Amino acid sequence: MRKTLVAGNWKMNNGPAAAVKLAREVRDGLRAVDLRGQALICPPCVSLPAVREIVAGSPLLLGAQNCAAAASGAHTGEVAAGMLAEAGCSHVIIAHSERRQHQRETDAEFVAKIDAAHAAGLTAIFCFGELLGERRAGQAQTVVRTQLEGVLPHVKRLSPANTVLAYEPVWAIGTGETATPEVAQEMHAFARAALAELAGREAAAAMRLLYGGSVKASNAGDLFAQPDIDGGLVGGASLQAAEFIGIVRAARDARA
Ligand code: PGA
Repeated sequence: MRKTLVAGNWKMNNGPAAAVKLAREVRDGLRAVDLRGQALICPPCVSLPAVREIVAGSPLLLGAQNCAAAASGAHTGEVAAGMLAEAGCSHVIIAHSERRQHQRETDAEFVAKIDAAHAAGLTAIFCFGELLGERRAGQAQTVVRTQLEGVLPHVKRLSPANTVLAYEPVWAIGTGETATPEVAQEMHAFARAALAELAGREAAAAMRLLYGGSVKASNAGDLFAQPDIDGGLVGGASLQAAEFIGIVRAARDARA
């Protein structure tokens, strides 16, 4: 059975002082939880060293929200995957819709970044998902298929051990409008079938596929009960310890 993963994407929130406070609350709240899956928090880069000290020795994992494609050199403002690994990260989010939209990152960059993450020993969390207009036009599956096809077959060392997928319909991110469990499951099943074609049946069966978009403690149980939803990528709700812990508990209960 696939292990669950709940990843908290803090986005551009919580500098070192606030990050330490929140990480401590999450760590302490999870002490009582028999995880049976993974829980990950992804603070802004500048807060990683402080949060690393807080989560050391706990089952809480540390991740980053982006990495550079290059390993080092003249790339002002960028952070290499190897540096994130050195700072204690085990995971890195790639291709979040906000970066697709605001930084206009492309498939070629996603491939290079995922390869860089793998070379540094990090697990890549590759995000994909359609816009509201694309869903309304009946193009959700075509868009998702194109996003997966444009990246996954080109990754050098793609495996369920080093890659997690995250379906995040853009219309559900930060809007409070979650995809219904049925809609999410339908898209996850579609993505898993596409993955089987692109990476093989075995990889598709073993790779974790997270749902992201207004996941909360109150809706996580129904989402994670779906057979192809292996956990969540959580934005807003990961900024509140009690909410995030509730979501981690829901993931545990779903695969108990
Ligand atoms: P949200 O964000 O949970 O606030 O909708 C999810 C994400 O952007 O990863």
